[in-house]
Amino acid sequence: MINYNSVIKVKSPANIAFIKYWGRRDDELFLPVSDNISMNLSHCYTSLEMEFLKDTSVRELYIREYKSDTYTQDTGKALEKAVKFYQTVKEYLKVEDDLGFRLKSANSFPKQSGIASSASFFSALALAYTTAFGKKLSSKELSVVARLSGSGSACRSVVDGYAVWKKGTSSSSSYAVQLAASEYWDLVDLVVIVTAEAKKVTSTEAHKTAWTSSFYPNRLRELKSRVPAFKEAFNAKDFSAIGKLIEEDTLSMHIVMMTQTPPNYYLSGKTLELMKKTITLRAQGIEVYYSIDAGENIHIICEKKNERTVYEYFVKQPEVQEIIANYPCEGTRLV
Ligand code: PMV
Repeated sequence: MINYNSVIKVKSPANIAFIKYWGRRDDELFLPVSDNISMNLSHCYTSLEMEFLKDTSVRELYIREYKSDTYTQDTGKALEKAVKFYQTVKEYLKVEDDLGFRLKSANSFPKQSGIASSASFFSALALAYTTAFGKKLSSKELSVVARLSGSGSACRSVVDGYAVWKKGTSSSSSYAVQLAASEYWDLVDLVVIVTAEAKKVTSTEAHKTAWTSSFYPNRLRELKSRVPAFKEAFNAKDFSAIGKLIEEDTLSMHIVMMTQTPPNYYLSGKTLELMKKTITLRAQGIEVYYSIDAGENIHIICEKKNERTVYEYFVKQPEVQEIIANYPCEGTRLV
């Protein structure tokens, strides 16, 4: 049953991958080559409102950019992807009725700059569309639907706290499950912003050519032991061990990215400076590690007890524009 003219409100977090998803074994179904692991980000999220209308010709998207007061209509790529995903969800749910919609999306952080804005946006859309079609999906099913958006990592945002996206053996068995609740471990991700500029090539696109890197087979081999090693260290709350694996995995992914054809240099000189400064701070006895997704901005991971020291160290670095502190949090939900 579709409730026309009603408004659905959703909030969904971005997430940081500790063990990354890079390259797909199926580009149509967005199936990863390996299990991957993430933490939701409490202060980097999308707030989405959807109005559903009987007039099926209405397909509108308004976006409020980070730090802007106003919504601007998008008639380009973002709308195209939202409409495409609407069709995907409709087919997945086998819904006959069509509907019109007006979307309003606002991010609490800069988009397309390595902070998983597509994960928060598409996981929010997954919940909004399925709710609009009158379906209340299990977390598992919602995660499958979010994965089918094309931004596969959206499937991890659905789950509360820390998530593992299981590579599965088919579309229905490739979804995220909880690794641990938020309360399990008070890890902090200080998202250090060096630029609010959007990247040129989306990660969703760049996944397609990961296999062209001669370092890719090496990455796949490493992941076979890195994933279980991460789970073991996480279960033992061994911060040094997970930190080491987080940095190793970041480097391994970026080496693949840079050696793909065509190459993708997501990180910049500023990112590199902050990577080195993370190592310097660690040498001074503060346990801190970096992680970098497909963008220039850098994620500094520490435990809550060191948050203040780490924040004070990074905030005064010349490369840094601002820092958004994040803690593990709930996944995608209606508000
Ligand atoms: O889910 P996508 O297609 O937006 O790709 C995400 C890729 C990385 O952010 C670089 C890694 C990850 O696991 O989140």
